[in-house]
Amino acid sequence: MTNEKFEKLKKMREKAKLAGGEERIAKQHERGKYTARERIEKLLDPGSFVEIDEFVISRISDFGMDKKRILGDGVITGYGAINGRKIFIFSQDFTVFGGSLSEKYGDKICKVMDLAMQAGAPVIGLNDSGGARIQEGILALASYSHIFERNTWASGVIPQLSAILGPCAGGAVYSPAVTDFTLMVKGTSHMFITGPEVIKTVTGEEVTFEELGGAMTHASISGVSHFASEDEDHCFEQIRMLLSYIPSNNLEDPPRVMSDCSPDDVDESIDEVVPDDPNKPYDMRDVVTKLADNGDFFEVHEHWAKNMIVGFTRFNGYSVGIVGNQPAHLAGTLDIDASDKCARFVRFCDAFNIPIITFMDVPGFLPGTAQEWGGIIRHGAKILYAFAEATVPKITIITRKGYGGAYDVMSSRHIDADLVYAWPGSEIAVMGPDGAINIIFRKEIEKAKDKEKKRAELVREYREKFANPYVAAGLGYIDKVIFPHETRQLICSGLDVLASKRKSRPPKKHGNIPL
Ligand code: HXC
Repeated sequence: MTNEKFEKLKKMREKAKLAGGEERIAKQHERGKYTARERIEKLLDPGSFVEIDEFVISRISDFGMDKKRILGDGVITGYGAINGRKIFIFSQDFTVFGGSLSEKYGDKICKVMDLAMQAGAPVIGLNDSGGARIQEGILALASYSHIFERNTWASGVIPQLSAILGPCAGGAVYSPAVTDFTLMVKGTSHMFITGPEVIKTVTGEEVTFEELGGAMTHASISGVSHFASEDEDHCFEQIRMLLSYIPSNNLEDPPRVMSDCSPDDVDESIDEVVPDDPNKPYDMRDVVTKLADNGDFFEVHEHWAKNMIVGFTRFNGYSVGIVGNQPAHLAGTLDIDASDKCARFVRFCDAFNIPIITFMDVPGFLPGTAQEWGGIIRHGAKILYAFAEATVPKITIITRKGYGGAYDVMSSRHIDADLVYAWPGSEIAVMGPDGAINIIFRKEIEKAKDKEKKRAELVREYREKFANPYVAAGLGYIDKVIFPHETRQLICSGLDVLASKRKSRPPKKHGNIPL
């Protein structure tokens, strides 16, 4: 072949790399953001990225767009590797019409999503876009919908991750919303359906971009974002970490990563974590880090619904999903947000063959009209639905309280947990001693000369009789009452014996989880 033909290809590649041009690239850097290409280089294993569709261009001519065609059309797509495992990726290029989505741009994203589904590999979207490309009108809207339908079809088949690294507004937010995990960067990423200007016109409210849809807003108030990263490098670190715990698709098991620690490496200080006083709080994350391999806990949704903790760690190299009540926040009660947080995480783990370890210390559901009128019945039901439908290995450790319906729903034996262990200070009963004796002994207390003394006596009797693990152990509802320092070994051996667990539910089109 002639040099001329080689030269042409070389030039086209160079042109495609420059995308929106030097000026816009400089502007992107001024804002503390990497370009779409730099992001791919930083996230993926060096030299692993293979770009496809780099010469795709828009076919639209309206508004003089035929004079402004840019190779690649505003999104970089392809495949590569992270920690040696294959992934598919698209990276929106803000230097090309503000990263706005056109018909062909959408086609490119759909192509990598289809390839990812067929190859059984995760798809990662790096979002930085002004939304639908206005000049393309309804073609852009149609293209968005094709992405949404693929997000839905891929859900539970391959992991889907969305990093928001700039604007993500209007209906564009619904692609990340369907994906498994959303990561946002503090200060530079914003998600909203309608922006501050529209809000001011319609409702009169004044709000900044950051307050409305910044990383911490969505990580702590709305729960839309699972992670709030300090900067883009931190965000890429979190993506790599997240992928290390999960399999590439729903037919694989998560990678087992052995380290130096053995099941017998027991941190004896675990015996001291739960206070003697049942009303004193403690941090459930301490329980997890004292038990897990290397003290690791990769927390998901750290800032939202803090009365529930969820995240990933490993026991004897097995990747597991951790779910726990958090006595250090709202006494670990279940509320609407905690229910949503727990249920979605459990369903992710179940879809991707990740065993679930549940740490239960729950005094009940949070009382109040805000919760009842907000639909705690509907939301709380998601927890029991998610645990009951899950067929992955499920091990439950009751560290202290397990009261009422909240006991039932937190992966109890009665909704199909495989192994249930309780620490010696556990209290498992219909309700806490104070509430219980006020109901069943109201008349006796009223009649008593010294009401407080009588109440204290009855509370003590109730606690001795019901608020302990032995009634449940006597019924076989708890498999073993254990010392806290025995927990690590039992979780590790439990994961070993359950590794070959095979369980299926009756075939159906799909269930109808209360949404
Ligand atoms: C075409 C767009 C664009 C868009 C930005 N640009 N958004 N071009 N369609 N949607 C172009 C600008 O013309 C500009 O081109 C370049 O991108 C950078 O934009 P700036 O405004 O200069 O940047 P900045 O000040 O950083 O503001 C970024 C922005 C703003 C906040 C994203 O551009 C903006 O508000 N854009 C419109 C957002 C929007 O309303 N989109 C439609 C939402 S509805 P030049 O040539 O000057 O560099 C929607 C429906 C989706 O998306 C429905 C899915 C179902």
